[in-house]
Amino acid sequence: MKYPIECLDRRTSVQKAIQLIERSTFDIALVLDEKGSYLGGVAMSDLRRLLISGVRGEDEIGNYPLKHEYRLTEKILGDRRMANRMLSDMELVGVHFLPVVAPDGSIRDILSADDIGRLHGFSNSRTAGPARRVLVVGGAGYLGSVLTQRLLRCGFRVRILDSFLYGRRSLDTLAGDENLEIVEGDLRNIHTCVNSLADIDAVTLLAAIVGDPASKIRPTETIETNVLAAQALASACKLHHINRFLYASTCSVYGVGGNLLDEDAPLNPVSLYARTKIESEKIILGMGDDYFSPTILRMGTLYGFSPRMRFDLVVNTMSMKSFLDRRIQVFGGKQWRPLLGVEDAADVYIRCLEANLEEVGNRVFNVGSDDQNYRIDDVAEIIGRSLGNIPILRDHSNLDARNYRVCFARLAQAVGFQPQQTIQRAAQEIFEKLNSGVVRNPTQKIYYNHYFDSAEE
Ligand SMILES: NC(=O)c1ccc[n+]([C@@H]2O[C@H](COP(=O)([O-])OP(=O)(O)OC[C@H]3O[C@@H](n4cnc5c(N)ncnc54)[C@H](O)[C@@H]3O)[C@@H](O)[C@H]2O)c1
Repeated sequence: MKYPIECLDRRTSVQKAIQLIERSTFDIALVLDEKGSYLGGVAMSDLRRLLISGVRGEDEIGNYPLKHEYRLTEKILGDRRMANRMLSDMELVGVHFLPVVAPDGSIRDILSADDIGRLHGFSNSRTAGPARRVLVVGGAGYLGSVLTQRLLRCGFRVRILDSFLYGRRSLDTLAGDENLEIVEGDLRNIHTCVNSLADIDAVTLLAAIVGDPASKIRPTETIETNVLAAQALASACKLHHINRFLYASTCSVYGVGGNLLDEDAPLNPVSLYARTKIESEKIILGMGDDYFSPTILRMGTLYGFSPRMRFDLVVNTMSMKSFLDRRIQVFGGKQWRPLLGVEDAADVYIRCLEANLEEVGNRVFNVGSDDQNYRIDDVAEIIGRSLGNIPILRDHSNLDARNYRVCFARLAQAVGFQPQQTIQRAAQEIFEKLNSGVVRNPTQKIYYNHYFDSAEE
């Protein structure tokens, strides 16, 4: 078959059906009777709704109405008018794939609306494929706004839930996209949290009080958001049978470590921020089972341009200082830090959304690449050189206790990730954005997480 859509016996349990559909990366399945004859299609969202309405997970899918009973036959495919009518029906019920069924009821093939349209040379305006619906919590943030852009480009439908701590201008260019829904709300509100999951297939949780300084200033919000709200969301996902849950964690959980640290290395948090991330990792992983398969993504320190720019991240700060002050200030300098381009980070999320759940579910990954472990001194040298011999001022007092080098082999093996961004090119791009006035005043508080109580635009 061209499309690996699950074909399920009508006696399959509702719970098992959701699991199988999830693994197929399509959001529908075809249902067959005991003899293998096609009965109709089911949608994952309908099955989830059954469970929420109180149906037992062990009940057979055949006991409940199907989403539709449409099918293609040789006769329909051979007749332009009938094929056109079928496309209209498919559009009406929101179905993008149908089986070609033989007279004995067996499935010969599966075709998309696109395929049917092409057979008769119809315009493809109504033949877009199905889109997985992804909830991006924190979608207006530094990583979230880049991830949302890329998800939409890849054909996903996206709902953002964000309280806009740093404003919503990062979403200006996306606001009209018909595949994007923007919900303003606070994840800490249980009602908002649960409602945000309606008809969602996968969740990426990015919202947090992010960074050591911000969490130090706002400890209560940090605990509420990074731990308690994260726990509530994961728990609500589990109850909704939303199996795919990507949790944004950080390599800061390693704090201080000597050797190259893999995912099993001891954790040594040196801030409330890192401690809350460890706590929520544990809670979320602890909920994992065959039907809820969270993925913990421990990212290196991000860099690069984003519609919600942050100038409190090392590469971005140095690039901005090179532009504003024509010098780079380094504190300490000997400490190691894994770095990761923000576009590359978004790429990893998409790979995890598209990967077989068995590869990525119930697992922890360091996110980055071995050759982007840097000493801060070297970061300054590289950026200084790439922007035209910017002088470097060194202050040996180290303001940041973190020092760790990280191994990223597990991620590369599971999803084949290779970074595309480099700190040289990112620094040049940021410099260029400042030079051309795309970012007019980089000293505004909105670009720094530890000023978030007085964000201005
Ligand atoms: N930026 C990095 O270097 C880095 C590195 C490792 C991990 N991470 C993790 O990645 C995630 C995203 O980081 P970022 O740099 O994009 O941060 P960010 O601060 O730019 O974005 C966080 C977003 O979450 C939103 N938010 C915060 N609290 C909320 C709440 N209660 N309800 C709804 N929305 C809320 C904010 O408005 C903001 O848009 C975080 O979880 C962070 O811990 C970031």
